[in-house]
Amino acid sequence: MANMLERAKLVRDKLWEVFGDSGQPVEVVKAPGRVNLIGEHTDYNDGFVLPMAVDREIIMAASPRDDHQVHLYAVDVDGKSSFSLDRIEKDPQAAWSNYIRGVLLLLQERGLPVRGMNCAFSGDVPLAAGMSSSAALEMASGLTARLVGQFEIDMVDLIKIAQAAENTFVGVNCGIMDQFISGLGKKGHALFLDCRSLGYELVPLPPTDQYKIVIANTMVKRGLVDSAYNERRSQCEKGVEILQQYLPQVKALRDVTVADFAKYKDKLPGIVAKRCEHIIAENQRVLDSVQALRTGDIERFGLLMKASHESLRDLYEVSCEELDLMVEAARELEGSCGARMTGAGFGGCTVNLVKADAVEAFVGSLREAYARKTGISPELYVCEAEDGAKRLAL
Ligand code: GLA
Repeated sequence: MANMLERAKLVRDKLWEVFGDSGQPVEVVKAPGRVNLIGEHTDYNDGFVLPMAVDREIIMAASPRDDHQVHLYAVDVDGKSSFSLDRIEKDPQAAWSNYIRGVLLLLQERGLPVRGMNCAFSGDVPLAAGMSSSAALEMASGLTARLVGQFEIDMVDLIKIAQAAENTFVGVNCGIMDQFISGLGKKGHALFLDCRSLGYELVPLPPTDQYKIVIANTMVKRGLVDSAYNERRSQCEKGVEILQQYLPQVKALRDVTVADFAKYKDKLPGIVAKRCEHIIAENQRVLDSVQALRTGDIERFGLLMKASHESLRDLYEVSCEELDLMVEAARELEGSCGARMTGAGFGGCTVNLVKADAVEAFVGSLREAYARKTGISPELYVCEAEDGAKRLAL
């Protein structure tokens, strides 16, 4: 926290340095990245997910302007981008700015009084690593616009706008998980979300003096991800379309029980059946994981993580060699209670639950084992569950 507030002050000072101190009040917010503990590729199937917000975040500082101009400064890449609120378009030269532009555009389309502003931001969420730096940037932008424009909007509405901005403006067809957890995460908790009703419950994580969450970055950038992601989505839709002929009440894979699926599985083309089987079982694994965490059954939770990884690898086919190696290497280490790939896949990170007293040795050995097998030096982050997007008082 101290460290985050120090960083927040640096971002505010940068704002003044780059744009001058206009004497206007400065709003400072943070919005975190996330790691998904279990429930992968279920969000766009109306299913269940169990992510947590991490202690890595985007920090954004902004002050209002009296014209309709928005001037952005990205501290980490020393990049600028400006536009008028009267005409918001994509900037191919500063792709990072599109997440902000999209959110402001959609807020305006909602009739909300977005104001012109000077704005600087910086973050320590690894980019393109599957830790949702884009959702964090969107949520930071939405909250900043709300504070600078002094209007009210419910957090869930802001989350939906951020997702819509990513879908329609940036052009990535993601589900709602990442924006939701960046908006509504809670310190010390995972968030169990029903992606259909958007009802959620906070699930306490095991005490951090006993267990740690370790995120292991394979450093493989998710190259294939957009096309493969969209392909998975349409395979799931295909599955629904066919299953509806036998089960008319089914609106999404979320509505198919494990028993019904066993009955009608052979009506589906092989590849579609594999994709559906993953989703249907993964939804059940999320429900079982919530129960396991609530009753302190770490062993059971670890087994569910293992089953999730194997299903993503063999049925949904979104893992890759490096993710599999990272998971296998982790499993052999002292203190490892669970390991799986996390996020969309094809690279990015794995998530591990590790006994606190073994975590230092675990991190060292995993780094060494992965580097030895792949020749790539990974990044490892020991993370804690943190609060979602909020205003910072400096
Ligand atoms: C990406 C998307 C999410 C979700 C995950 C897979 O992170 O942005 O909406 O679909 O992949 O679980």
